[in-house]
Amino acid sequence: VTRIIIDTDPGVDDAAAIWLALASPEIELLGVTTVAGNVPLEATYANACRIVGLSGRADVPVMAGARGPLLRDQVFGKYAAIGAFPKALVPDSGMTSSDENAVAFIARTARGAAREGRPVTICAIGPLTNVAMALRLHPEVAQGIERIVVMGGAFRALGHRTPWAEFNVYADPHAAQIVLGSGVPITMFPLDVTLQALFTATHIEELREQGGAPGCALARLLTEFDRSDPEKYGRPGGPLHDPMTIAWLVAPELFSGRRAAVGVQVGGSTSGHTYADFNDSQARTTVMTDVNEPGYIALVVDRIAALGAA
Ligand code: BDR
Ligand code: CA
Repeated sequence: VTRIIIDTDPGVDDAAAIWLALASPEIELLGVTTVAGNVPLEATYANACRIVGLSGRADVPVMAGARGPLLRDQVFGKYAAIGAFPKALVPDSGMTSSDENAVAFIARTARGAAREGRPVTICAIGPLTNVAMALRLHPEVAQGIERIVVMGGAFRALGHRTPWAEFNVYADPHAAQIVLGSGVPITMFPLDVTLQALFTATHIEELREQGGAPGCALARLLTEFDRSDPEKYGRPGGPLHDPMTIAWLVAPELFSGRRAAVGVQVGGSTSGHTYADFNDSQARTTVMTDVNEPGYIALVVDRIAALGAA
């Protein structure tokens, strides 16, 4: 069993990642730490509480962390104005959660993991502010982190947020630089691989028909916040970026990647751009390059549909 912390800014695809983790016996979710990103911190925290609460897992703590990026001006996602998910889409289970700060939780958990000799994995699926702060404030926590699995960056693919940059790196490039330079082994899922798998109306129907409460909520979210863009993606359907980090821990055979030294452009008109040297065999970062699309989609849909289903 892989013990993980999910650091997140929910976010529709973040919700799918959290539900996939909760639906996977291969994974023990130690806590969910939230960061400002797609929406402001209050909303990512409220959403994370509701996502976890809807799966009936009040034992999994949710913590709020950084309210904004380390240095740059704050940017939010496309649906920032909506704030937290409408309750008609993701009902509020009334779950109250921990008031420990996210950065303190990451540090405390990693320190404990180092002491026990059972390092934890961090799945970072929002801007990297919390993870960078934990590593900067408490460098010794690196010893308790087995690996950081990051959804972020874009190499050959066009960036989403700007032609140059993917959102999570764009929103806090300094934090991304700190995490990538930390020496902790990193597996990175850039847009190049996440855009290879598109979820269509058929998959949404499957979630709705067979789903327990989380599957039905995900179907409502995917319908309300339509992610498809045939012009951009060349075919019907929309991506779910963040669950790839979890799917890789559960079924690594669905993916392939290559070691690379990764850098981040910080500042200027191309801020947030990531670049990779695939010839550096000493590199500690693995950049994922390919996914088995049907295998990935089936894993996400089947497991989330089964979560809490009768
Ligand atoms: C990333 O940005 C966010 O909008 C998504 O949740 C994902 O983490 C994709 O660029
Ligand atoms: Ca996210």
